[in-house]
Amino acid sequence: MKHKHTVQPSTLIISVGGSLVAPSEGIDHAFLKDFKKLVSKQIKKGWRFVIVVGGGSTARQYQEAARKAGKLTRDDLDWLGIHSTRLNGHLMRTVLRDVAYPVMIKDPTCELKKWKQPVLVAAGWKPGWSTDYVATRLAKRLNAKIVVNLSNIDYVYTKDPRTNPDAERICEISWKEFRKMVGNEWDPGMNVPFDPVASRLAHQSGIMVAVLNGKNLKNVDDLLNGKSFQGTMIGA
Ligand code: UTP
Repeated sequence: MKHKHTVQPSTLIISVGGSLVAPSEGIDHAFLKDFKKLVSKQIKKGWRFVIVVGGGSTARQYQEAARKAGKLTRDDLDWLGIHSTRLNGHLMRTVLRDVAYPVMIKDPTCELKKWKQPVLVAAGWKPGWSTDYVATRLAKRLNAKIVVNLSNIDYVYTKDPRTNPDAERICEISWKEFRKMVGNEWDPGMNVPFDPVASRLAHQSGIMVAVLNGKNLKNVDDLLNGKSFQGTMIGA
């Protein structure tokens, strides 16, 4: 099934999964180049973007190494993740430097009066959640009704499709049902399509999340052009 989101160019909050920027094989410069192309093209049509960047394998590698080296608190693990998201965020901001606000946002509640550029890049904030939460906070603050969550999956599935051959794809799901799947608890480095803490905030704030595969940027372009796109709508 394909979705159609009626759109007028405005400000779009995009959470870019770190797995797209920093997959385990190394930094994906081709993705960054293509993403820049898409953003530049859509800016000309009137879109503004808030891009929140995740930690990907950078976060996972550092967290794993620290876990192996000794006992650590959950907050320590989260901070390693946060710094990874900030490194990837700086990379994104540098790639988009011609169109981006010159400061990468670490705190989604910070002063934004001087933000005039078409793009704002943000990354991890505090322990206890992922960049999904930062994206949702920014969406709430900017009165956006949708967060586009780009990762490396085409849809949300009923179970992890890598380990469950009977997993079924989900095209639309309510927050109530989705939150039953992901639970309420945050675990550093957890791998869910949208984190439980961010899900709670989005649910309470009436924000929808569109989960799309960021490897298929044509699909993202379709969403921005008001054409039908593939993915999972949460909270529609
Ligand atoms: P990500 O947002 O990348 O989380 O943050 P993720 O969902 O695990 O990964 P991808 O990018 O979608 O694959 C990486 C880690 O950084 C910490 C968490 O430990 C998270 O797992 N983090 C991030 C925080 O503690 N707070 C934040 O605000 C952001």
